[in-house]
Amino acid sequence: MSIERKDEHDHGEWLREKDLTPIESTFLTTLIWMDRRFRIVDYLEILETLYYRVNLQMPKSHTEQYGLDNKFWYWYPLYALGSFSTIAYVVAAISGALLGFYYSPSTAAAQGDPSAAYQQLTLIMTDLNFGFMLRSIHRWSAQVMVAAVFLHMLRVYFTGAYKEPREVNWIIGILLISLTMVFGYTGYLLPWDQLAFWAGQIGVEMSLSVPLIGEWVAQLLFGGFSLSQSTLQRMYILHVFLLPFVVTTLIAVHIGIVWMQGIAEPH
Ligand code: HEM
Repeated sequence: MSIERKDEHDHGEWLREKDLTPIESTFLTTLIWMDRRFRIVDYLEILETLYYRVNLQMPKSHTEQYGLDNKFWYWYPLYALGSFSTIAYVVAAISGALLGFYYSPSTAAAQGDPSAAYQQLTLIMTDLNFGFMLRSIHRWSAQVMVAAVFLHMLRVYFTGAYKEPREVNWIIGILLISLTMVFGYTGYLLPWDQLAFWAGQIGVEMSLSVPLIGEWVAQLLFGGFSLSQSTLQRMYILHVFLLPFVVTTLIAVHIGIVWMQGIAEPH
């Protein structure tokens, strides 16, 4: 792939001579426009070289070596569970970001009223257009993600795909499934309803039961030994800021490693 850098006049002439369809000529005009400003062709070439270098230095997978790509088990649906987890994560992230426009992590309430957080949720469910749908999409995608990640882990285990040279990805996977559950737990507390409150209470007590550092853990994760505004605020920051950042990075590294190593076949 190489486009010579001529001046704009030359490119216009060159494009007209080629007898291109409107889509092709729009694509090329945009590419040339971008390239003249941001040298994107150079960067694409660097990426292309990197792609070939990485692929060359990796041993060929069994599938490639014996030309098995079109065998049915290569596309066996169980092998798509990792991608299914990724899709569920992306849906949860987008719907969560939209819910974030309406939610407020506040336990403040007038005497006898539910907390501000719960009231915002009621507003999302009853007054906001498509709010009920948005919240349902978020909850369902989160639950589908947990199930998909778990099944993905089973398929990796039962096909022996965790073995050399894929140990690092197995360990990243353990981190990912743990963080997926922390995602679920922190999200579960956000409505600040009865379920959330008692799940929070169990969390505090579990933290306190850790030998030696229990009090410190409860303080760090829940902002004290009983539930308060600090608890909800910590759950909120974990759920909408820290976890998305860490999990997105880990998923990118995880999939990057799959790309470098190729997918293992059933043994
Ligand atoms: C957020 C969670 C996760 C995401 C988004 C994810 C994503 C993926 C994707 C897209 C693949 C490509 C192959 C496939 O789809 O089956 C893959 C492969 C792999 N995953 Fe995950 N994964 C996650 C969690 C886990 C967990 C919990 C483990 C195990 C503890 C794990 C271990 C592996 C290993 C070892 C491979 C390589 C498998 C092979 O080469 O056949 N992953 N992952």
